[in-house]
Amino acid sequence: MVTEKSTSGVSRRNFLQAVGAGSSAGVMFATMGAMGLAPSAAAQPRPDSWVPPRGSDFTLTGRSAKKVVVVGAGPAGLATAYELQKAGYRVTVLEARHRPGGRTLTIRGGDSETDIDGVKQTARFADGIYMNAGAGRIAQWMVTMDYLRELGVPYEVFTNANADAYLYNEKSGATPGSPLRYRTAKADVFGYTSELLHHATDQGALDQKLTAEDKENLRSFLRSWGSLRPDGTYAGGSNRGYEVYPSAWNEHGTPLPGPGTVSDVLASKVGQYFPFEINWEQSMLMFQPKGGMDTIYRYLVRAIGSQNVHLSSPVTGVENTGGGVKVTYTAPHGRERQIEADFAVVSAPAGLMRRWDTNWGPEVDAALGEFAVGSPAGKIGLQYRSRFWEDDHRIFGGITETDMDLAHLWYPSYGYGEKKGLVIGYYNTGANARAYGAMAPRQRELRAVEQGVKIHGEKYRTELDGSFSIAWHKVPYVEGAWAFPNTASTGFKRLQQGAGNVYFAGDWMSEISAWQHGAFWSARYTVQALHERVMSS
Ligand code: FAD
Ligand code: ALA
Repeated sequence: MVTEKSTSGVSRRNFLQAVGAGSSAGVMFATMGAMGLAPSAAAQPRPDSWVPPRGSDFTLTGRSAKKVVVVGAGPAGLATAYELQKAGYRVTVLEARHRPGGRTLTIRGGDSETDIDGVKQTARFADGIYMNAGAGRIAQWMVTMDYLRELGVPYEVFTNANADAYLYNEKSGATPGSPLRYRTAKADVFGYTSELLHHATDQGALDQKLTAEDKENLRSFLRSWGSLRPDGTYAGGSNRGYEVYPSAWNEHGTPLPGPGTVSDVLASKVGQYFPFEINWEQSMLMFQPKGGMDTIYRYLVRAIGSQNVHLSSPVTGVENTGGGVKVTYTAPHGRERQIEADFAVVSAPAGLMRRWDTNWGPEVDAALGEFAVGSPAGKIGLQYRSRFWEDDHRIFGGITETDMDLAHLWYPSYGYGEKKGLVIGYYNTGANARAYGAMAPRQRELRAVEQGVKIHGEKYRTELDGSFSIAWHKVPYVEGAWAFPNTASTGFKRLQQGAGNVYFAGDWMSEISAWQHGAFWSARYTVQALHERVMSS
C-alpha cells in the first residue's frame, strides 16, 4: 500500500481507496464574495437536480448570450464549454498541450510526448493497441457514464478485479515463479478468519455481544463464507482453485498444495488487497470507453466544434477588466494573443495558475497555493507479441497486486483473441513513481520487466515488443497526477467564489479529486454559478 502526503496535508493511506475519502461536506460555495460573484447556497445543483442551462433561458428573457473563454481542454474545461455552448454561450477553449483530454491521455502507435526535461518518447504500438496513460476506469455511478451515454461514446466493461489474477508480496515471502492467485489467497484468508471467529464464538468470547440465535447465524455464515468443515475448522477446498481443474468423468482435478498454516497466511499479508474490491470508487462493474479513455474528449471536441478549441495555445495571463476578462496566450506559432470575453473559466492545475499574470489578488493566489504540488504517479505500457497472460496464465483482464515498486500490473480489458496485447507494467505513486520518473525510459522498461518476470516468467522479457512510459509529475502543463483538496480549508472555499469574472474548475475543485467524475461535477457547478449570475444581471 502506498502512503502519501497530499498537498493539503491530508495523509492518504492508499491512494486508490482514499481518493476523495476524508471529504465530508458537499461542495459549498461561500457567501457572495467582495466582487459579488458567488452564487447563493440555494443555487447549488445537487447531483439529482442538475438542470443544464438552456438556450431558451436567453431567448425567452431577451438576453444576449455571453462569451466565455475556457482555459484547459481536460474533462473540466471541455465539459464546461460543452454545457455552456448547448445553452447558446459563445465559447473559446484554450489548451496548452498539443492534444485535448488532459490527464485522460491515451497513447497509440505514433504518439509522441516530450517531458519537462526534454525527454521525448514515441510509441511504437501496433494498430488497435493503446495505453491509457492516465485515467483508465469508470464506476457505474459516476457522472462520467452519463457523458459517455449522452455523447454516444461506445464503452465496455473494465475488469478491475479478477479471481485468477495474482498477488505477489515479495517482502512477505513470495518467491519468483510462485505468485498466488486471488482466489487462493481469498479462500485462505476468509477460511482462517472464519475459523478463528467460529472458535471465538464457541469459546463464549462474543457472549456479551450476541444472543444464542445471533451466534448460530454467525456460525452458519462463517461455515459458508470460509468453507469450514462442520467442526468449524478450515482445511482448504475447491475455492482455492486447482493445479489441474476437474474435467471429464473421474477426472477430479489436482488440488493446489496447501493451505499453509494460519500464521503463514497472516504473514503473507495478502488480505490487505481485498478491501479494494468493495471500495466505493473501485468496485465492479467498472467501465472504459472502447478504444481509449480520450475517446470521450474527441467526442466532446467534436460536439463543441474543433474550431472553438485551440490547441498548443498556453495561457500566460488572466485579468479582470471590470466588466469582463482579458486572457493572454501564446498562439501555436509563438505570437502572443489576447481574447476579451465576459467570463473566463480556468481549469488548469491550480499550482500552475500561480505562474500566470493575474490581478485576482494575494488571497486567491494563496488559496491556489494549497494545491501547488501535484502528487507523482507513473505508468508503463508494455506491448507484447503474444498474450501469454491469457494463453498460459488464463488471466483475461484484471489487476495483479504486488508489494514491489511496480505496485499494480494491469492486464488489458480489450483485444481478447488478438495476437498482440499491452499490459500496464507498473502503475505506482509517491516515492516509487518518483524513482521510476527519474530513470530514462529504457531503464524504466528494464526495471519493470525484471520485476514482472518474477510473476510471469521469461516470456515477460522475451515477448516484449516495445514500451511507453509516463511520469505525470514531468508532463508539461500538468506536473502532477492529482491534488487533494482540503475541503475544510478557507482557501478551498475562497476559490469556490471565483475571482471577479473568473471561475475555477477541475477535479481538485471537487469532493472527488483524481476522478473525471469530480472534474465533470466541478464543471457543472461552475456552469450553474456562471449562468445564475448571467440570468440575474
Ligand atoms: P486535467 O485533465 O489536468 O486538464 C487540465 C488541462 O489544462 C490540461 O489539458 C492542461 O494541459 C491544461 N493547461 C494547463 N496549463 C494550461 C495553460 N497555461 N493554458 C492552457 N491550458 C492549460 N479518473 C478516472 O475517472 N478514472 C481513472 O481511472 C483515473 N485514473 C487516473 C490515473 C492517473 C495516472 C491519472 C494521472 C489520473 C487519473 N484519473 C482518473 C483522474 C482524471 O484523469 C482527472 O480527474 C481528470 O483528467 C481531471 O480533469 P481536469 O479537467 O480537472 O484536469
Ligand atoms: N482514480 C485513479 C485510479 O482509479 C486514482 O487509478
